[in-house]
Amino acid sequence: MPSQQNSPATLIVNARLVNEGREFDGDLRIEQGRIAQIGTGLAARGFETVIDARGRRLLPGMIDDQVHFREPGLEYKADMATESAAAVAGGLTTFMDMPNTNPPTLDAAALEDKYRRAHGRAWGNYGFYLGASNDNLEAIRQLDPRTAPGIKVFMGASTGNMLVDDPATLDSIFREAPTPIITHCEDTPMIDAELARYKAQYGDDIPAWCHPDIRSREACMKSTQLALSLARRHNTRLHVLHISTAEELALFEPGPLRDAHGLRKRITAETCVHFLRFDRADYDRLGHKIKCNPAIKDASDREALIAALAADVIDVLATDHAPHTLEEKARPYTTAPSGLPLVQYALLAALELVHEGRLTTAQVVQKFAHAPAELFDVRGRGFLREGYAADLVLIEDTPLTVHADDVLSKCAWSPFEGTTFHSRVASTWVNGVLAWDGDRLVGDAMGQRLEFDR
Ligand code: DOR
Repeated sequence: MPSQQNSPATLIVNARLVNEGREFDGDLRIEQGRIAQIGTGLAARGFETVIDARGRRLLPGMIDDQVHFREPGLEYKADMATESAAAVAGGLTTFMDMPNTNPPTLDAAALEDKYRRAHGRAWGNYGFYLGASNDNLEAIRQLDPRTAPGIKVFMGASTGNMLVDDPATLDSIFREAPTPIITHCEDTPMIDAELARYKAQYGDDIPAWCHPDIRSREACMKSTQLALSLARRHNTRLHVLHISTAEELALFEPGPLRDAHGLRKRITAETCVHFLRFDRADYDRLGHKIKCNPAIKDASDREALIAALAADVIDVLATDHAPHTLEEKARPYTTAPSGLPLVQYALLAALELVHEGRLTTAQVVQKFAHAPAELFDVRGRGFLREGYAADLVLIEDTPLTVHADDVLSKCAWSPFEGTTFHSRVASTWVNGVLAWDGDRLVGDAMGQRLEFDR
């Protein structure tokens, strides 16, 4: 595997750089895996590869703080190599992976096992969350905060068996967590009650469009309120994942992530691309392909979530990439698993909102690269800054239609099949090395273990 020390020196000229709220014309020099210089009229040196960006947008690589790459234990659905390849093809150069694997990631040994697996196989940079359970408080207390972006608490049951519903345990986790806590918020007893009602009516073959009524907005609201009250009681750094309803937005404080004194918000919110591109009307066409937890809800929720991103009520955009096989998705409602593959087309889907005039490119970069880097104290990534890792993505405004044959995820399907995006990923660099050339993966898996400045 080549190291970043012998990575090629590259000069990208005539780019439209998008960074920290600005869009400007300029050049960017890569040396030894890092951004060496940003400026205008930079002169090429003999040994450098020069790339003419021809005015195309050059962004920091996206940082996806919510993926399920399924390793260990569920490799028949996905693995770190296949899914990180799909991510890099989609301009996502860093991923943070969830603990609902088999076995689940519940202690330091399981965490290190994942880091070992990713080494040399992950196309993007990687971090792994420690999971919480009803009985791993000691492992949470002892977690070295430099070894994981955060601690994942399933406050609602989903894929895997990781529900934390013991009130005393929840209270202790929020009081003692040495890293940010990230939560999946849906109230399981409310969901179970609704599911029983629908099963009584339909048996196992509940229509897919009932999913948002079973995994209801009320269940989201109740659980999110509980997470926020625990965080306020203990002054916890809390990040609430995948907000899916308009109602929950009122619970979060609008405003930028940082003020002059550093990280201002103790409680932050995230939504996911599928909540911005799909709504209840899509269950007819896509069925269980868009069955996920929390559920995709109404068009009015979708519109409110987009507005909340623009208004800085929602701080982070991520994917919740959660692949399952088509065979699994074809099962009846009660046994069809929840989750959909997203990493390869998530950035292009987000850029459609720019095309539609709902967000700016700078806002997409803020939510999908800068904010996760800041929230999780990621060292030296997520920005176009001299000295930072050269994780970069070049966007070309040429239409791209999604075909199943082009999907790099192991499950080999996408909810976006047949969709034409206005833009495509022309190139992705990871640690200064070209990894995606617009058509195919090139070179080797160059991802590095994330470091956290804590
Ligand atoms: O839809 C989902 N799928 N939501 C989750 O919380 C878990 C995920 C999975 O792992 O399949």
